Amino acid sequence: MWNKNFDTLILKTISYRIIASLATFIIVFTSTGKLGFGIAFSIIELIFKPILYFTHEILWDNLKKKNSKNSYDVSKDLTSETSFIKKEEREKNLNQRGITIWFTGLSGSGKSTIAKHLERHLFEKGLKTYILDGDNTRLNINKDLGFSIDDRKENIRRVAEISKLFNEAGIITLCCFISPTNEIRELAKNIIGKENFKLIYLQSSLETCIERDTKGLYKKAIEKNIPNFTGISSPFEIPIENDLIINTEFEVEESLKEMFKWSIQVTK
Ligand code: ADX
Repeated sequence: MWNKNFDTLILKTISYRIIASLATFIIVFTSTGKLGFGIAFSIIELIFKPILYFTHEILWDNLKKKNSKNSYDVSKDLTSETSFIKKEEREKNLNQRGITIWFTGLSGSGKSTIAKHLERHLFEKGLKTYILDGDNTRLNINKDLGFSIDDRKENIRRVAEISKLFNEAGIITLCCFISPTNEIRELAKNIIGKENFKLIYLQSSLETCIERDTKGLYKKAIEKNIPNFTGISSPFEIPIENDLIINTEFEVEESLKEMFKWSIQVTK
C-alpha cells in the first residue's frame, strides 16, 4: 500500500495545508485584529484538517475500489470470434502466411529503409504487405506516448495488437520499432503469437548510428536536449534470440539478398 501514490498524497496534503492555514491566519487576523487568534486557529487547522483530508482520500479510494469490484465484468460474456472466416482460409486465398516481420535496432540502424526494400521485394512477388513504423504510429495512434520504459511498452503493446489484426486478415506486416529490450520484444511476440512472429535484428554500432544521425536526434540527445534517448540515456539490449541479423554497416547487399530469400520461405 505504501507506494508512490501514497507519497504524493502526503506531499499534496502537506503543501495544500500550509497554503490553506496561511489563508486561515490572514482571514482570522484581518477580521478579529487579534494575532493570537490568527495563530491559534491556523495551528488547530494545521493539525486537524490534514487528518481529515487524508482519511477522506483513503475512504474515497476504497469506495472507488469497491465499486469497480462490484461492476460487472463483461469480458466473461465476450467471444473473440468476429468472423466465420478463419485465418487459415484467408491465407489460402491470398497464397501467403499472415505473419509479422519485426525489425529491432537502434534509431538510425536502418529499420525503415530495409523494411521498405523488403516490402518492395515482397510486393513484386505478389504478396500483400503493410508497414507499421514508430516514426509514423507515434504521430497518430500513439501520439500520447513518450519514451519512458512504460510508454515504450504501451507503444509496443498497441502496435503488436494492430499487427496481429493485420495477420489475422492474412496480411504480412513489417514492423519497425526500436523495441529496445528483450522484455518488450517478448511482449510483442506473445501478443502476435510465437508462430507468426519473426524477429530481424538490425545490427549497427552506436558510433555508426551517431555518425549517420539522419534525423539529427543523436546530437540533441548528447547535448541533453532529448531525455531517455535510446543508446545515450536509455538502454538498448542486444536481442538474445532472433530469426535473422542484418548488419547494416558491412556487406549490406549480401545481407539483403539473404533476407529476400528468407522472407519468401517464411511468408509462403
Ligand atoms: S520504441 O522504443 O518505443 O520502440 P519507436 O520505434 O516507437 O521507439 O520510436 C523511435 C523513433 O522515435 C526514433 O526513430 C526517433 O526518430 C524518435 N525518438 C524521439 N525521441 C526518442 C527517444 N527518446 N528515444 C528513441 N527514439 C526517439
